[in-house]
Amino acid sequence: MQKNYGKISLTSVFCARMRKKQGIPFSRELIELIDTKYKENIEDLPDYGKSLNEVSDFIPFIEGRYYSINKALEPLKNVMIIEIAAGLSPRSLNFLKREDVIYVETELPELIKIKEKIIKDIIKNKKLMAKMNIRFLSLNPLNKKEIDKIGETYKKVGTGKRMVIIHEGLLMYFTREEKRKFRDNIKYLFENYAKDGLWITTDLSRLKK
Ligand SMILES: C[S@@+](CC[C@H](N)C(=O)[O-])C[C@H]1O[C@@H](n2cnc3c(N)ncnc32)[C@H](O)[C@@H]1O
Repeated sequence: MQKNYGKISLTSVFCARMRKKQGIPFSRELIELIDTKYKENIEDLPDYGKSLNEVSDFIPFIEGRYYSINKALEPLKNVMIIEIAAGLSPRSLNFLKREDVIYVETELPELIKIKEKIIKDIIKNKKLMAKMNIRFLSLNPLNKKEIDKIGETYKKVGTGKRMVIIHEGLLMYFTREEKRKFRDNIKYLFENYAKDGLWITTDLSRLKK
């Protein structure tokens, strides 16, 4: 077991624990790995208070946004899905057997390294073997230069497919200026690489104070 992945984003662990509470497919396996094999590499929230033990409006909120995006993706065929800031979400695994789909998970550098290992562990442990259509990209979506990494990946493996950008639980952490930057980066991506691209997100709500 290597120990040099660095600490990863706290909020992504929080969301993963919420999904386990709702029994979302693969969420249990993912949390088991986080709490055992990858325990040393992951920084959890210092205190969850009552949020995981009692009825909390956070849990259905996380579940609702997860399934809403899945529902929007369901009818789409022959696509390259790019999940920006995928965190510890297991969504990509649902597309493993879809031969018409390429799924690209992006995250900040430390987290994407550990996420790739976790996803590959789940595939192996659960014998989900299929032609591997999931890719992992280290990316800060606020950095325009890094956005080209998505475009380059699309040119390499996605040509002929529709580009679909998704994200959940991201925009609410951005300032107004960062949101503008993010929007402009997506616009740049579509204009330069995929003019018929789709952008699907549930990130229109505010963080509850
Ligand atoms: C609340 S988590 C949500 C993760 C995942 N989408 C989910 O629903 O479980 C927010 C994620 O945004 C990621 N992220 C990516 N780019 C970021 C940036 N520029 N600033 C802050 N967080 C960023 C963090 O690493 C973190 O995993």
